[in-house]
Amino acid sequence: MLLKVRNLGKTISGPSGRTTILNGINLDLDAGASLALTGESGSGKSTLLHLIAALDGFDAGEIEVAGNRLSRANEGKRAHLRRTIVSVVFQQFNIIPSLNVQDNIALHAGLGSKSDPAWEHHLIDKLGLRDHLHHFPEQLSGGQQQRVAIGRAMAMRPKLLLADEPTGNLDEASAQSVLDLMLDLVKESETALFLVTHSLEIAKRLDHQIQLKGGVLQ
Ligand SMILES: Nc1ncnc2c1ncn2[C@@H]1O[C@H](COP(=O)(O)OP(=O)(O)OP(=O)(O)O)[C@@H](O)[C@H]1O
Ligand SMILES: [Mg+2]
Repeated sequence: MLLKVRNLGKTISGPSGRTTILNGINLDLDAGASLALTGESGSGKSTLLHLIAALDGFDAGEIEVAGNRLSRANEGKRAHLRRTIVSVVFQQFNIIPSLNVQDNIALHAGLGSKSDPAWEHHLIDKLGLRDHLHHFPEQLSGGQQQRVAIGRAMAMRPKLLLADEPTGNLDEASAQSVLDLMLDLVKESETALFLVTHSLEIAKRLDHQIQLKGGVLQ
């Protein structure tokens, strides 16, 4: 099992005391398999994705990614996981404005010592970015920026790709091509995919579907 989530709970403290955001979450994902997470706005989808990405801590239960227990991982270990095993693609692209396409794609794999020039070359062609290697993010369309973000995420050949509404900011045609590319690439590199989406149509294209409601899986 690549990803195991057991009795996961997350609370936050605010002015009116502690609020539960996620409660008793259990899920499993096999290596190379894909899972779609749907749920209303505010149901906790992004929170769960951030916890699995080791971007935030939790107060109950456990998340295990490729044998690494996140409850026990310090900041250094978490950063290492994000450069070698787990990649994230966000709705807002989040590529680095001061780096060109080529450098953005190479960034995380380089930091994690997982550079693979032949695979990067393949990604650049597959994602249709060959003619844009020396362009900066502001010179690209939204669809192109998201393809750069996917290239950056996949360059390290992660075991797990986490994507939070990756096509939410794109028009229908770009959304379709970005989704197709992402599904192709994870299959090709046997990367497991955890995808947050509002679209039941998109969710149906993945192996498994789960739904969050008020911080609880249905
Ligand atoms: N840092 C925070 N401080 C306070 N409340 C937060 C924080 N992060 C998330 N929340 C609350 O936790 C709940 C879940 O938020 P989350 O962003 O995970 O929802 P979501 O399902 O991703 O929603 P959306 O579909 O709109 O992206 C919401 O009620 C949100 O207001
Ligand atoms: Mg969200």
